[in-house]
Amino acid sequence: KPPIIVSELATRMGLKPFVLLADLIKLQVFVAPHQAIEPETAAKVCELHGFIFEREKREKGGGVHKIEEVVVEPEKVQDEPEDVLQLRPPIITIMGHVDHGKTSLLDYIRKSSITKGEAGGITQHVAAYKVEREGKPVTFIDTPGHAIFSDMRARGADITDIVVLVVAANDGIMPQTLEAIEHAKKAEKTIIVAINKVDLPTANVMRVKTQLAEKGLQTVDFGGDVECVEVSALTGAGVDGLLELLALQAEVLELKANPKGNARASIIEARVQPGRGATASVIVETGTLKVGTPFICGPFAGKVKSLINDRGESVKEAKPGTPVEVIGFDEMPNVGDSLVEMDNIRAAQKLADERQLDRRNDRLQLTRKSRMEDLFSNV
Ligand code: GTP
Ligand code: MG
Repeated sequence: KPPIIVSELATRMGLKPFVLLADLIKLQVFVAPHQAIEPETAAKVCELHGFIFEREKREKGGGVHKIEEVVVEPEKVQDEPEDVLQLRPPIITIMGHVDHGKTSLLDYIRKSSITKGEAGGITQHVAAYKVEREGKPVTFIDTPGHAIFSDMRARGADITDIVVLVVAANDGIMPQTLEAIEHAKKAEKTIIVAINKVDLPTANVMRVKTQLAEKGLQTVDFGGDVECVEVSALTGAGVDGLLELLALQAEVLELKANPKGNARASIIEARVQPGRGATASVIVETGTLKVGTPFICGPFAGKVKSLINDRGESVKEAKPGTPVEVIGFDEMPNVGDSLVEMDNIRAAQKLADERQLDRRNDRLQLTRKSRMEDLFSNV
């Protein structure tokens, strides 16, 4: 059985690892975030946060091989028998170094002009869009290439099914290209490489492929198994080939979710908007998120006031794999937390109070601990 890693367990509950570390200290278990804990211990900390710990068999790679995973499900999510599972759109995250053309590529795919609307052409935040291709929906997440957005890239890799790594052919592999590879590998996601800007006279596709191979990403023509497409977001050359490859890959993965159960969505971006208050872009993972749904999200309770789709239209509900903007938070939620549907607002509020109390206690303990350390360091 695979080990239960503290930081992974925290992620699954929508908590920061230090919260679990504090819980573990109370249980006399002293570990670092990357270390493993016993199932019995995991069960105890899960219970503290209103989760039930269970190990569940999940199929990966379209049933080619079975991998056992540690899965923590919120209390309210019931068993999901096969017949309620329906195909959902694949979630594809576009990553790469700054200015390598991620937004332009997505822009071409959407045939709109997101790049023009952005401040200085640099992506400020994650944006998610749903695109239909031959009647099949695909969800894309655009991530910023700037160094400071490492967390967002990590998060993007986490909730995604396939990572499209954009590398500019004139520039080659750069620091955030490498970082994106790291994130994708860590999250065990399929990487498809899009070598962009091949329209430029300075484009050097061979050099990019050699650099990729040096970093352990052997493309198919180099005898490896990494699919690679040469594209130009400017002229649109190769983009259709990329989409076809993505559709094929998605089909192999056979991604399914239950649209009927309780909704759970992952926060990919949060901000305060004038006239709307705190809002969050989420991707629905399971269930159908509806207007009026009471929820818990990290330490905050809330109720969905309205939902706005990726075209700015108000919608009543959002199904699995769909990106949507949620209005109805009292406070700005944390990126990476999960929004989980609750039966009623009172239950949500109760859980929120508990979580907030826990966090206050943890902070108190941490300050006490650091004060003690200060004390000793002066001796
Ligand atoms: P960040 O979001 O800041 O990380 O950048 P990005 O990767 O989204 O790059 P963006 O799409 O904003 O493009 C950066 C610049 O490269 C823009 O000036 C684009 O017009 C240009 N560009 C993007 N794709 C191509 C391409 O295929 N060919 C050429 N010649 N220019 C391109
Ligand atoms: Mg961009």
